[in-house]
Amino acid sequence: PSARRGSECRELQLGGARATELVEQYGSPLYVIDEAAARDRAREVRVALESEAERIGTSATVYYAGKAFLCVEVAQWMAEEGLAIDVASGGELAVALAAGVDPARIGFHGNNKSEREIARAVEAGVGTIIIDSEVETERIARAAAAADRRQRVRLRVNSGVHASTHDFLATSHEDQKFGQPLSEAPRLVEAILARDSLEFVGLHCHIGSQIFATDGFRESARRLVGVYPELERIAGRPIPELNLGGGFGIAYTSAQAEQAPEVAAIARQLADIVAETCAEAGVSVPQLAFEPGRAVIGQAGVTLYTVGTTKPVLLAGSDAAADPADLGFAERLYVSVDGGMSDNARPALYGADYQVRIANRESDADPALVRVVGKHCESGDIVVQRDVIPGDVRAGDTLAVAVTGAYCWSLSSNYNYVPRPPVIAVSNGSSRVIVRGETEDELLAKSVIPAPVAPANAG
Ligand code: LLP
Repeated sequence: PSARRGSECRELQLGGARATELVEQYGSPLYVIDEAAARDRAREVRVALESEAERIGTSATVYYAGKAFLCVEVAQWMAEEGLAIDVASGGELAVALAAGVDPARIGFHGNNKSEREIARAVEAGVGTIIIDSEVETERIARAAAAADRRQRVRLRVNSGVHASTHDFLATSHEDQKFGQPLSEAPRLVEAILARDSLEFVGLHCHIGSQIFATDGFRESARRLVGVYPELERIAGRPIPELNLGGGFGIAYTSAQAEQAPEVAAIARQLADIVAETCAEAGVSVPQLAFEPGRAVIGQAGVTLYTVGTTKPVLLAGSDAAADPADLGFAERLYVSVDGGMSDNARPALYGADYQVRIANRESDADPALVRVVGKHCESGDIVVQRDVIPGDVRAGDTLAVAVTGAYCWSLSSNYNYVPRPPVIAVSNGSSRVIVRGETEDELLAKSVIPAPVAPANAG
């Protein structure tokens, strides 16, 4: 029993529950969210942004960006921790409403919301709709008039700042699909103000995602505040709000730990630049809003996999390009797990980095250079590009890949008819399903089975 206890404490624990027991109970792969970690982080991020806003004499609303990961329970956690919710589709809106989130605390985004989605949002009493294009001004105004409501709206603009991140994640330079050029803001705001069914509350800008360098946030805020005096003149009143979006980067690997900015530091820098620019421009400091997703939920998630096969590949003399990051290892060990790009598309989409550890046992075997790969039919099906772990990793081992709370379940697919794994929440040693997994039968049921063709009548 003492030996068993010894091995127990070497196993990975998540929210007080043993990783191996979770896999036994719920199967593998498995998304695990640590409830306390998610709630603590949500509160920490909210308090950091609120207190900095307060310091400069205003307030802040922190929206949780549901696209990172949303289900009914998570929406409830966020609401309970004092966050509002940002949704980007009718589906996300439905989840937030089903969770009982106060509609007034929901913001609705999207560069191509359907008329139906707009009508549903207006009728539900959604607090703010973010206008992404000129034609949306008309659509939202019509929907609001039809519902006999005055809809609060923000205008999404591009500050022209090209955030230093993966190109697919930068959203505020000119040559991408979201928002309108900042120079167009006065004209577009005039058009919004001309509609009685709309209440213009301010500008919105989201410069991108997974951003480490804070100067982009600062420059963007400076440019936005810079047009507030002109907007004030047009409106004949102060513009009450400014939404600076989300995008705060987080560390996925220990190498990134030192580069990732503290949310408190971003909050302080943003508050400073807003206060400074408002003073220079002679406008009062607007109420601030933010929309972090990844920074709230990313680090609360871990994915557990089971190893099926391993394959060593000699690097020297193979067609592998000599890569200094391979650290002089002569061999790369491919470790195949029972999931892959269907449960985490981020390495395939953005070359995202993760780390891995063996979760079911301790080992003092010599370290090996490993690449954790999935079970899908492409060689880009990579879960962890490169890590160094004990070389005796073998079939049956449980592997844990951390920081999978954001944009993993939400970007998941059924590629190769692989059912999505469930998401479980762990807290205080207990666990429960918060998003059901899928079964092969459910996937099969989507195929329409053609009625048998009657044999041609030979008579
Ligand atoms: N606000 C708006 C308008 C957004 O478009 C986004 C993210 C956020 C807030 C939240 O950004 P966050 O704080 O989570 O970085 N699938 C990619 C990320 C796409 C981000 C899309 N928009 C990934 O896995 O890295």
